[in-house]
Amino acid sequence: MLAVLEGEARARDFRGLVGTVQEDARRARAWMERRGFHPFAVRFDSLLNLERFDRDAHARHLERASAAGVTFADMSGATGAQWRELLSLFQSLLGETPDMQDLPVWTTDRCRAVLQNNPNARPEWIIVARHASKAIGLTIGHKLGDEIYAYFTGVAHAWRGQNIGVALKLMLIEAARSHGVETMRATNLDRNTPILRVNAALGFKKALGTIEYRKLLAPAQA
Ligand SMILES: CC(C)(COP(=O)(O)OP(=O)(O)OC[C@H]1O[C@@H](n2cnc3c(N)ncnc32)[C@H](O)[C@@H]1OP(=O)(O)O)[C@@H](O)C(=O)NCCC(=O)NCCS
Repeated sequence: MLAVLEGEARARDFRGLVGTVQEDARRARAWMERRGFHPFAVRFDSLLNLERFDRDAHARHLERASAAGVTFADMSGATGAQWRELLSLFQSLLGETPDMQDLPVWTTDRCRAVLQNNPNARPEWIIVARHASKAIGLTIGHKLGDEIYAYFTGVAHAWRGQNIGVALKLMLIEAARSHGVETMRATNLDRNTPILRVNAALGFKKALGTIEYRKLLAPAQA
């Protein structure tokens, strides 16, 4: 079956295959490695208990971001121009995540499929940081069963290190709690130190990891 899949992928000019296996699945990992897949990244889920979350303990992050003149609002009632601005910010910040290393930039349509055209997305769960009305950061939450899935958080380069990332997530946590959601889940790459620091500051606890394997394919004409 793998040979057929590889043939199809080559015929369509795909550069490679990607597969994900649980960290503790030794036999599956050995199977992948015997067939030319190489470990590319380790990701793990982290969980935050929103019922026990102490908002006041984190108020200083919001204060610090606000002191820099940054405001926060969700996307309910946003104008068409604000959605277009956000799509373009999401597209560029997504390209800066280590997860996207060596992968093509997402099209606007694919970004819209995450922000707007998605049954699990809701405008109240997209929080935007603005300075002088310009969007400089965003965080996106998706509904995942009873949980909220922290899909993405990004802050424009010039604004990093001023607690805006933590403040964005704090606002998302509040939005989720107001809908009665008890757990926030995130999936992160083990080498993405900045977002791990953000999540650690908020009290996320690590769960089991998964390993992303990649296999480069020789081009069809070769
Ligand atoms: C991850 C990201 C959103 C963090 O935003 P930020 O506004 O710079 O983060 P904060 O300022 O709120 O940082 C929170 C804590 O993490 C620490 N931190 C942030 N970036 C760090 C880095 N590169 N190295 C070490 N610590 C870092 C901060 O010092 C801060 O700790 P403190 O409260 O003790 O000072 C930002 O780096 C980013 O946009 N990265 C690219 C997109 C990405 O990879 N997103 C994650 C995938 S979903």
